[in-house]
Amino acid sequence: MLLNLTSVLFILIFMFPPGKFVSSCIYKAAGDKVVISFDDAKSQEDNDLRWTHNKQKVYIRKGSQIKLNKLNVSEDGSLILENIQKDQSGEYKGVIYDADGKLITETVQELCVLEPVAEPIVLVECVENGVNLNCTAVNVTEVVVSWMKNGKKANMTHAVLHISSSELKPGDTFSCTLRNQISKKSAKNVEPECSETDKSEKKYLFGLDLWWTLVILTGGGGFLLILFIICLVCVSCCCRPNKRKAKREEQHQLVPLMPYYLNQPDDQQKPVTSFG
Ligand SMILES: *[C@@H]1O[C@H](CO)[C@@H](O)[C@H](O)[C@H]1NC(C)=O
Ligand SMILES: *[C@@H]1O[C@H](CO)[C@@H](O)[C@H](O)[C@H]1NC(C)=O
Ligand SMILES: *[C@@H]1O[C@H](CO)[C@@H](O)[C@H](O)[C@H]1NC(C)=O
Ligand SMILES: *[C@@H]1O[C@H](CO)[C@@H](O)[C@H](O)[C@H]1NC(C)=O
Repeated sequence: MLLNLTSVLFILIFMFPPGKFVSSCIYKAAGDKVVISFDDAKSQEDNDLRWTHNKQKVYIRKGSQIKLNKLNVSEDGSLILENIQKDQSGEYKGVIYDADGKLITETVQELCVLEPVAEPIVLVECVENGVNLNCTAVNVTEVVVSWMKNGKKANMTHAVLHISSSELKPGDTFSCTLRNQISKKSAKNVEPECSETDKSEKKYLFGLDLWWTLVILTGGGGFLLILFIICLVCVSCCCRPNKRKAKREEQHQLVPLMPYYLNQPDDQQKPVTSFG
């Protein structure tokens, strides 16, 4: 049963090779060489051969006479495209008629010319509750992004991968891969490190946002400064009358000292007088 199924699949694939369907594009890198052939029949000297690209005639041969050759055709009638560029994408159709103008065979092929993807880099942005990894490259259009964590494929296909703090362990490495139909390139591994100071940019102090705490503290400081200035002015005003009073008190204090000085010469004179 299984063998039968595989053989049926085998026959199907053999009979209808995927590249031969009109709907499926053959993807090629810019600069490649592409040959588009007829499935079976080869063109003969007495046949007519025509090739078109997006309905525009690019090659016409009637018998042995080449009427138009914007593109090269091999001896067997295959279209040869060398150093292909993006503008050469599109539908190519080849038709062979016999000498009487009867259709012998035709082939249609869609060609998609792509630029190889650029090498991406992983940008690390530490955020409050983890880290954002941003897979970037020039021209990230029509590319598929995949992520690797510690060398294992991660189940993520977005350009930006968010890793929460709880998921991120020290030493974890990340890389992303960009791919299109013709190429793939991986970024160098990054080891995101978000230190506590990075994360605490918006730290809370006494349950208040640090910024608001600063505003309140500096506001309070300003208020205290104004109070201090008011006090200084008050003190200087109130002290002036006190100074005069103090001077008077000083004079009063000097008075009682006077008699001592006055008495002193008397005391000194006493022995002199008694001596005399
Ligand atoms: C045709 O082939 C010749 C020789 O290989 C080459 O020099 C020429 O550029 C080709 N022409 C085109 C339109 O590809
Ligand atoms: C990812 O990085 C690219 C390039 O610096 C930038 O344009 C884009 O906005 C970033 N995406 C996010 C979600 O930060
Ligand atoms: C990016 O894409 C644009 C448009 O497809 C193209 O003109 C340009 O050359 C590309 N740049 C690079 C570096 O691939
Ligand atoms: C990947 O994610 C999808 C949806 O988020 C889930 O259904 C699937 O089981 C995941 N696969 C693996 C291998 O984790």
